[in-house]
Amino acid sequence: MAVKVKSINLASLSISVVTFILTYAILIVIDTALGYIMPAFIALILAFVTYAVSHFMIRKFVIYRIKPIYQMMLERNMSMGELESRFAGTDVISDVSDELASWAEKKSAEIYRLKEMETYRKEFLGNVSHELKTPLFTLQGYILTLLDGGLNDPGINVRYLEKANKNVERLIAIVKDLEDISKLEMKIMNLNREQFDIVALCKDIVDSLSEQAKAYQVTLKVTSELPIDVFADKVRIEQVMTNLLVNSIKYGKPGGMTKVKFVDMFDKVMVEVEDNGIGISKENLPRVFERFFRADKSRSREEGGTGLGLAIVKHIIEAHKEKINVRSELGKGTVFSFTLNKYL
Ligand SMILES: Nc1ncnc2c1ncn2[C@@H]1O[C@H](COP(=O)(O)OP(=O)(O)O)[C@@H](O)[C@H]1O
Ligand SMILES: [Mg+2]
Repeated sequence: MAVKVKSINLASLSISVVTFILTYAILIVIDTALGYIMPAFIALILAFVTYAVSHFMIRKFVIYRIKPIYQMMLERNMSMGELESRFAGTDVISDVSDELASWAEKKSAEIYRLKEMETYRKEFLGNVSHELKTPLFTLQGYILTLLDGGLNDPGINVRYLEKANKNVERLIAIVKDLEDISKLEMKIMNLNREQFDIVALCKDIVDSLSEQAKAYQVTLKVTSELPIDVFADKVRIEQVMTNLLVNSIKYGKPGGMTKVKFVDMFDKVMVEVEDNGIGISKENLPRVFERFFRADKSRSREEGGTGLGLAIVKHIIEAHKEKINVRSELGKGTVFSFTLNKYL
């Protein structure tokens, strides 16, 4: 019995020792952990505060430094508050680099455009003076001959005066076309859109050109019998049709025919001016709408052309927000076609 009591004591003792050791160990671990957690917690709070403060300060500093860049890009003064709200909730640096990149792209496109305009301006000026020079010098030649005694020579005086007048007419034609071109390019030509019958207009123009067509042995024909009402600037469209028809006569062949056709396209009508004249070569075709371009310089000059007619035609059609096209085959003929809004 005594042995049993002893062993119970021993067991209890050992359990209590184990309990003591375990509790002690756990408490030490907890204590140690608590000792680490507190500083870590404090450090975390500090780190967070530092992050917030430094983020705020750096952002403010960056915004302050980029202010002049933005003022330059937007070409106006900006307050810090305006800039800060512009970047609210975004990454300033990547935003600025994106905006700067697109600004630089826009600027280089603008520089390219300005350089192109400068080249065009120089070319245009050169072309204008060249075009004016020829009739002016010819005119001077006739006047000088008349002054040198030709005035009293009945054999030449009237003829030379007539020739001089032809050159004055040519100068007037160039100046008028130039005026139109500059108005169209500066977009100060307002369109006066109205409802009118394009078929009737074409017939009137064909009638008024009948003498000229006869002289070149070209027949002009308008193919539609039915009226087609369009909504466009009548005076300008008359200018377009006259230009195209006169070209078809001047660059036509004797015995040739020009047909004006109309193709119905739902809300639009396509007007086609088709001739079987001398045609335009493949190389020259893309250039016919350029100012002063002529496929055959001497023939165009002989016919009193300025080389500006098709440039004006294209401008007028584009001012109507429509398109003009040309198809041609050298020696066979040419078709100019453009669209207009129907009056519905
Ligand atoms: N119907 C046509 N057939 C052949 N060539 C044409 C026709 N229309 C225009 N061209 C060519 O396009 C050039 C430019 O035409 P345009 O601008 O009207 O000037 P131009 O005053 O010389 O008639 C003409 O010089 C001519 O070479
Ligand atoms: Mg012409």
